[in-house]
Amino acid sequence: MGITQYKEVFGLFLNHFKVCRGLVRTKRFIMWCGLAFVLCFLHLSSALNMDGPIIIIGSGLSGFAAARRLMDNDITNIVILEAENRIGGRINSVPFSDGIIDLGAQWVHGQKNNIIYEMTRNMFNFGTTPFEELYSTFLLTNGTKPEQKDIRKIVDVAYKILDDIDDLDDPQGSIGDIFNKKFEKALKSSKLKNIEPKVIELMKDNIQRNYNGYMATNSWFDVSAKINSEEGKASGNQYLTWKKKGYKTFFDFLTKKAPNPAQYLNIESKVQLNKKVTNIKYNPKDETSNVAVTCSDGSTYSAKHVIFTPSLGVLKKYHESLFTPALPDQKILAIKNYGFGTVGKVFLEFDQPFWKEQGKPFLAYEFLWLDSDIKEAIATNREWMTNITGIYIVDQFPNLLEVFLGGSNLNEFETSSDSKIIDDCMWLLEKSLAKTLPKPKSMIRTKWLTNENFLGAYSYGSIDADKANVRPKDIAESIKNVDEAPILLFAGEATDDRYPSMAHGAVRSGFRAADEIVDFYD
Ligand SMILES: Cc1cc2nc3c(=O)[nH]c(=O)nc-3n(C[C@H](O)[C@H](O)[C@H](O)COP(=O)(O)OP(=O)(O)OC[C@H]3O[C@@H](n4cnc5c(N)ncnc54)[C@H](O)[C@@H]3O)c2cc1C
Ligand SMILES: *[C@@H]1O[C@H](CO)[C@@H](O)[C@H](O)[C@H]1NC(C)=O
Ligand SMILES: *[C@@H]1O[C@H](CO)[C@@H](O)[C@H](O)[C@H]1NC(C)=O
Repeated sequence: MGITQYKEVFGLFLNHFKVCRGLVRTKRFIMWCGLAFVLCFLHLSSALNMDGPIIIIGSGLSGFAAARRLMDNDITNIVILEAENRIGGRINSVPFSDGIIDLGAQWVHGQKNNIIYEMTRNMFNFGTTPFEELYSTFLLTNGTKPEQKDIRKIVDVAYKILDDIDDLDDPQGSIGDIFNKKFEKALKSSKLKNIEPKVIELMKDNIQRNYNGYMATNSWFDVSAKINSEEGKASGNQYLTWKKKGYKTFFDFLTKKAPNPAQYLNIESKVQLNKKVTNIKYNPKDETSNVAVTCSDGSTYSAKHVIFTPSLGVLKKYHESLFTPALPDQKILAIKNYGFGTVGKVFLEFDQPFWKEQGKPFLAYEFLWLDSDIKEAIATNREWMTNITGIYIVDQFPNLLEVFLGGSNLNEFETSSDSKIIDDCMWLLEKSLAKTLPKPKSMIRTKWLTNENFLGAYSYGSIDADKANVRPKDIAESIKNVDEAPILLFAGEATDDRYPSMAHGAVRSGFRAADEIVDFYD
């Protein structure tokens, strides 16, 4: 007997019970109760066994969140298949310098309605990065420091415009288009009138780079203002840090190891590493057949439900070979058209912080790239540097700088050797500061784009997605069989309708997928 049949019998039984309720005598009532209990028990145990496990593909935030929610509902027959040789996915906290830094997600963006903040507040003492453009030192790449007062005025105007775009009602076109129109107008205002046009042009370029770095886009003309305005933003501090402990700390809250180890759900023990899934075969027409999962090492698994969590980058490149039969048209349309971009980071450790000026807050060096220097960078095989948004301090690590970049040159960046990356960074810093600097004593850097298990960093609402009218919910939509059982579910940051791209969106998506399975058996 299938689970759904139990559900039907049980449902009929309950209806019948309700109808008779007024008539039965106490004795009969007790008998009915006993029967109900037995049926209930059968129903429950069948739900827990489910003729095969639930397979979660991917051990990132969404995969762990899904497992947590299933286990909270006493569903423990779970297998998590992970292609990498580590747990965490785009959370990758590694030892560096005298603490732990993050090669993946680094900040908790916002507090209100942020599930990660809500699950940890009062239990973790967050730090913060003072992300105020005000605290940045802006440098011309030829070593001349532009008038910082002028720069501040431009920054004020430009970031106000970007903030306002977020609040527009049903905006049309790209963020870049809207920004340009509004900025054009602002140029005529008294505030910007007397600033050298060249400086304004270079700053606009800088702001665009920053935006691209934040959004993981190649161009802000590719970001749909409309989709952007539909997404939520958790308000409050946008740059909370895990201090020297790294984002992986949150996994302890997901598994309930923290704050009370007695409640620990051993999700780690469900994970099988180095298991790269190559095919998922499902049959929506036959409610008795399981989903068959095949891995690159030839191993196979059979599951009642599969929750798929790898990145949109993985879906874009591999959806055809991954799924048999092919995914529904609408989902493929969404996979193809929704945006997925990339960012990169380099952490540099120095003996002494040379960037600190007494009594002045410092956030970053930001660069105003002169055309001649872009040409020089290209001619000397350093083009990737032109996509640097800035070189930032790292909260709690006084001797570290973090180079952040977004955009199109990440292939060159990721395939260059560590020593070349160090030399290039020092080239830019020495050139722009017009002085010789001490060499860093160590470095560590990211390779998200060229890693086949990620193929980029995070999703964005592209112009193409707007045109095709697809949204994260189209990627999220689960595939059900004839019994309405969700047999193939999709979680992961790019499937969250409220906070796509974000770590807290990933967690929400895992909870949503697990809830769909739990609700089915309820
Ligand atoms: C550099 C960088 C910086 C970021 N900064 C922030 C930030 O500051 N704040 C923030 O909120 N968010 C940030 N993000 C986004 C955040 O990291 C993600 O939204 C979140 O971690 C995604 O989790 P996920 O579970 O959706 O996907 P993932 O973490 O990618 O999990 C999917 C898992 O599936 C595995 N996998 C892939 N293919 C297969 C396969 N074929 N078989 C088996 N397993 C497979 C992968 O190895 C991975 O472990 C950043 C991301 C990056 C890359
Ligand atoms: C750097 O470029 C700026 C802007 O073009 C210019 O005003 C300045 O003189 C240049 N400085 C040097 C040292 O060439
Ligand atoms: C990356 O650099 C290239 C060359 O300077 C530029 O054309 C492109 O707009 C940059 N992209 C981003 C995202 O900064």
